[in-house]
Amino acid sequence: MIIGCIGDIVGKPGREAVAAALPSLKERFDIDFVVANYENASHGFGLTEKNAKELFSYGIDVMTGGNHSFDKKEILTLFGTHPLLRPLNYPEATPGCGVWCGKVHGTNIAVVNLMGHYGMPMADNPFTKIVPTIEKLKSDGIRHIVVDMHAEASAEKQTLLHLLKKDVTVLFGTHTHVGTDDLDIIEGCAYVTDIGLTGCRDGVIGMDKKIPLSRALTGTGGHHDIPKRCKTLFQMIVVETNDDGRAVDAKKIKVYDNGHERIESVFEI
Ligand SMILES: [Fe+2]
Ligand SMILES: [Fe+2]
Repeated sequence: MIIGCIGDIVGKPGREAVAAALPSLKERFDIDFVVANYENASHGFGLTEKNAKELFSYGIDVMTGGNHSFDKKEILTLFGTHPLLRPLNYPEATPGCGVWCGKVHGTNIAVVNLMGHYGMPMADNPFTKIVPTIEKLKSDGIRHIVVDMHAEASAEKQTLLHLLKKDVTVLFGTHTHVGTDDLDIIEGCAYVTDIGLTGCRDGVIGMDKKIPLSRALTGTGGHHDIPKRCKTLFQMIVVETNDDGRAVDAKKIKVYDNGHERIESVFEI
């Protein structure tokens, strides 16, 4: 199976970058299943129904969330009708679900969404929360497991790798919006600390630079905003797996608004 994972899609420029790049990349790399993070998809904050339908129409199969999952209240009705997750370790009473299970060409696959602790909303311990969840998925015969660890701290993401590497197929990080260059396959688990945003590449974490500059220099400036025009970047990882749900190949793909692309493959050192 070939699995594609996209990080935080930020605003309209991010959605347009997905529309421009994903359909042709799916064909070119025979991608069977695509996971993406929606938490900033609608003007930087949360997800509307219109934008959810738009993103699914480009070939995304399941979307994960994070600390901005609930910024648009429409998500509460979307959870029951669309393959949309929120972090598993939100309290039990929080609407939505942190695990999606389905089939791709007859093969069972699960997607799990988790959120870190550092700098994040109050939630349960992600490490103790995910262990019984993965055990249950494995006992149900699911070998293909994809985890989105939505976290600020790289150390939390690397710690999770060592907890889960023998049991999950892909563990990717989201939230920082800045891609890291550590994509690797570790004991059959494809891992990257952060895929990085899909959206504006010439601002501050996908947002207009004017406001963060003003806040930095004067302490005022208001909320983050998405610029009307910007240079964009589409980023995804593509992971090939075997029948046992182990990763056997991985690459990072970046497509720029000017048509330039960069593809880096993992190789054994
Ligand atoms: Fe984000
Ligand atoms: Fe986030």
